[in-house]
Amino acid sequence: MGNIVRATGDSGPSGFGCSSTAEQVTEGEDASRLTVIITGGSSGIGAETARVMALRGAHVIIGARNTEAAESVKQSILLNTPSARIDIIHLELSSQNSVREFSDRFLSMDLPLNILINNAGVMHCPFELSVDDIEMQFATNHMGHFLLTNLLLPKIKSTAEETGIEGRIVNLSSADHLTTYRGGISFEKINDEAAYNAKLAYGQSKLANILHANELARRLREEGANVTANSVDPGLTMTNLGRHLTTFAGMLLKPTNL
Ligand SMILES: NC(=O)c1ccc[n+]([C@@H]2O[C@H](COP(=O)([O-])OP(=O)(O)OC[C@H]3O[C@@H](n4cnc5c(N)ncnc54)[C@H](OP(=O)(O)O)[C@@H]3O)[C@@H](O)[C@H]2O)c1
Repeated sequence: MGNIVRATGDSGPSGFGCSSTAEQVTEGEDASRLTVIITGGSSGIGAETARVMALRGAHVIIGARNTEAAESVKQSILLNTPSARIDIIHLELSSQNSVREFSDRFLSMDLPLNILINNAGVMHCPFELSVDDIEMQFATNHMGHFLLTNLLLPKIKSTAEETGIEGRIVNLSSADHLTTYRGGISFEKINDEAAYNAKLAYGQSKLANILHANELARRLREEGANVTANSVDPGLTMTNLGRHLTTFAGMLLKPTNL
């Protein structure tokens, strides 16, 4: 089973807790041999992850639908870390064509791939179908990342084999995976507007992130691949994720300087 890592107030066995920063957690680490893909690196948690990965020397590939925003994240990282290695590739996760194009672009760069961070996400948006006719939160948060992971898995496995460095796949989930339609994922009604509840649909997509990581971790272990898959709940962080919210909790999530 993949692990669900939840940020809690207390420090865990690692000595880190929810008040630990990414810089503290990676202090002294040399990531210069690593190539990392971060989806949604143009904002919030993804942008901070990109910054700290680049600070530690990793080659960072940001997958972003808004490449202008990603470019300004890149420029602000370069201001403090002029040696940062960052590339931006367009990625619209709600479009399976775009996910395939992203993967083709990345693979044509002939780089290794040590870490895939499936971070991008949308929360509580009004009902909308993707270009592939899939409800938007499910299409973006789960389906896009599921496809992306499958397309990149051979590269992650071969990199781990060639380098001896454990490959990692990380899905950003949420405590909201507990707030779903009755029975969890409403497979029969995923694209049914009449049954749509924005909050439950978000929870369902986040549950799918965890189930994806769990099953993938099981299969990777079974075949003896030197790659792990995990999901993480990042806790409550002020980002742009609350853009569709009007409640007080939503307001708390809105402001960001990341
Ligand atoms: N913040 C929290 O408290 C919290 C709590 C639990 C879980 N999470 C999870 O953490 C992850 C990161 O969220 P965040 O808080 O950093 O939110 P955020 O600031 O809104 O960042 C989300 C990122 O995902 C990108 N994105 C959204 N839809 C996309 C699509 N269709 N294709 C490609 N990229 C897309 C956004 O791009 P644009 O800028 O173009 O929209 C943005 O870069 C999400 O998976 C979220 O569910 C966050």
